[in-house]
Formats: sequence, C-alpha cells, structure tokens
Amino acid sequence: MNIVTKTTMISGIIALSLGFAANAGEDAKLVINGQELATHVKGGPDSPLDELFSGWVFRTEETQALQLDDFENPGMVFVDHARDTWETAEGTAGKSCADCHGDVESMAGLRAVLPRWNADKGALYTMEDYINDSVVNHMGAEKWKYTGAKMQAMVGLISLQSRGHTVAVETGGPAAAAYELGKEIYYTRVGQLDMACSNCHEDNYGVYIRADHLSQGQINGFPAYRLKNAKLNAVHARFKGCMKNIRATPYKPAGDEFRALELYVASRGNGLPIEGPSVRN
Ligand code: HEC
Ligand code: HEC
Repeated sequence: MNIVTKTTMISGIIALSLGFAANAGEDAKLVINGQELATHVKGGPDSPLDELFSGWVFRTEETQALQLDDFENPGMVFVDHARDTWETAEGTAGKSCADCHGDVESMAGLRAVLPRWNADKGALYTMEDYINDSVVNHMGAEKWKYTGAKMQAMVGLISLQSRGHTVAVETGGPAAAAYELGKEIYYTRVGQLDMACSNCHEDNYGVYIRADHLSQGQINGFPAYRLKNAKLNAVHARFKGCMKNIRATPYKPAGDEFRALELYVASRGNGLPIEGPSVRN
C-alpha cells in the first residue's frame, strides 16, 4: 500500500465523518419471529461509547431483511446441521452432546457471558474453547478446527439459545489481565495504514468506507453469516480480516491475543442483546 492510497483512505474517512452519514436503517426495527431485539442501547458507566449500536443498523435494507426472518437467514442452514451434530455420537466415549447436555436449550444464556475466566483451567475461555474441551476430554474425539464450519455451526446453534439475552461479560477479577491486554490491542495502531480498531469502530462508526458503512465492530451478532463468503464467520476470523485490511500481520485465531481482544470487544457490547447468527455483507 503506497502512501498516496493510505492518505486518500484516511482523508476519506475524516471527510466523511464531518458529514455523519445516515445509517442505512436508522429507524428500522430488528424483530425476529415476533421477538424485538434492541439495536441501540445506552453505553454503561465504564463504556467509552455513549450509545451502543448493533452492526445490523449499519447494513443495507436488503441485508437487514435477511436477518428478520429465520427462514430467510442463510446462517440457519448451518445451525440446522449443528442440530444433527448435537444428536450424533462422536469419539471413543460413543456419546453425543445431547447424551450429556440434553436439549440444546440447556445452553441458554451462555453466549451472553462469554468469553469468561475458567477457574478449573486457569484460562480465559471462549465458546469454541468450551466446545473443544467437551469434544476432546468428554467425547474422546479429535479437536474441531476453531474457525471451521463444524465449530462455527455449533457456536451458531448455542448462540441462538441466548437470542435476546443481554451481553454481560465479566471484565474484573481473574479476567482483568486479559481485559487490559485486549483493550491495549484495541487502541494500538498497527500495520502499514497505522490504524487501531478504535480509529474505525469508535471514532468513525456510521461513516462510509469503501462503499461500506462502518459499524462499532460489535460481536453480539456472531457467528455472522457473510454474503461475501456465504458461511458463518468466527469472531477471530473477522478480527483477522480487519487486521489484514489495514495491512497488519494478524494475530492467530484461537491465540491469547485474539481471546483477550474478544473479551474486550464483547465487553464493549455489554447491554446489547445477543442476536447471533446475524447476517452481514
Ligand atoms: C460425556 C459427557 C459430555 C459430552 C458428550 C459433551 N459434553 Fe459438554 N460438557 C460436559 C461437562 C461435564 C461440562 C462441564 C465443564 C467440564 O467439566 O468440562 C461440559 C461443558 C460444556 C460447555 C460449557 C457449558 C457451560 O455452561 O459452561 C459447552 C458449551 C459444552 N460442554 C458443549 C458441548 C458440545 C457442543 C458437545 C458435543 C459436541 C458436548 N459438550 C459434549 C460433558 C459433556
Ligand atoms: C480501516 C477501518 C477498520 C479498522 C482499523 C478495523 N476494522 Fe473492523 N471492520 C471494518 C469494516 C469496513 C467492517 C465491515 C462493516 C462494519 O461492520 O463495520 C468491519 C467489521 C468488523 C466487525 C464485524 C461487526 C459486525 O457487526 O458484524 C468486527 C467485530 C470488527 N470489525 C472488529 C475489528 C477489530 C477488533 C479491529 C482491530 C483489530 C478492527 N475491526 C479494525 C473496518 C475496520
């Protein structure tokens, strides 16, 4: 990326932020199967944002519409696959998820509090970590690929059980070190474009960038079905993509940096309802 392109891109962002572009669907409501999910709430006392917006708000009407109906939401096909997986025995223990956990509804609420500190393991755990822990240690099966289709379908199915639950991740106590690391990453400028997550998702949300509305980069809608790649996308895959876009060397999905960043980004959405799997462009 040469300096001219970089300057054009940044000045483009600044110029547009002066005339705060209207969000695509400012007045639209996100109602799925009769359940209204708030897409706009007040930021909590510790939040750097006065108002929190779902990424859904910034999408075009056409993309928004796909999330209004589970029959239209292409991400639900993958969720249905995960329902089958939930019932299927795998590994040397010969057990399925259902054998131990019963109905997947037993997972209600979990998405809203992850990532969280797992005291037994002495580590910060994401949803993918919990799933793989069961796959390997309780089922005796091969670990699933963290950002892979099978894993993200299951993350989608389990997230769906928390639809409408308010994001409430813990940032203190034993999770504090990860929270601080995630926050540092969020505000550190990196890459050839020398930009931080905050430059786009805090300073410039609502503006147009390369024909796309910038959102606050919230993750309450993950995994996200993207029209661009026609699959459910992991949180860490999205982080990686954003780092690549600013020509930075991305951290590794499933690594400690992205785990910490996920905790921090999740906490920036404390107060928003869970809406995964969402639909994005
Ligand atoms: C043999 C029993 C067993 C099977 C099979 C099993 N799990 Fe688990 N799972 C557990 C136990 C026990 C825990 C509690 C944490 C621990 O001790 O590891 C757990 C915890 C979890 C958690 C964290 C729940 C929470 O509230 O903290 C998730 C998510 C999970 N399992 C998903 C799955 C999925 C998905 C499958 C199937 C792919 C599965 N598990 C299969 C026994 C099982
Ligand atoms: C150059 C601007 C830019 C930077 C810097 C940037 N992103 Fe993004 N990000 C985007 C664009 C554009 C999109 C797609 C539109 C949108 O949702 O904002 C996006 C989307 C996202 C989404 C998906 C939001 C949703 O609702 O689906 C997340 C999460 C995200 N970014 C996180 C991050 C994180 C974390 C960082 C720092 C590592 C970062 N981004 C850095 C431009 C940026």
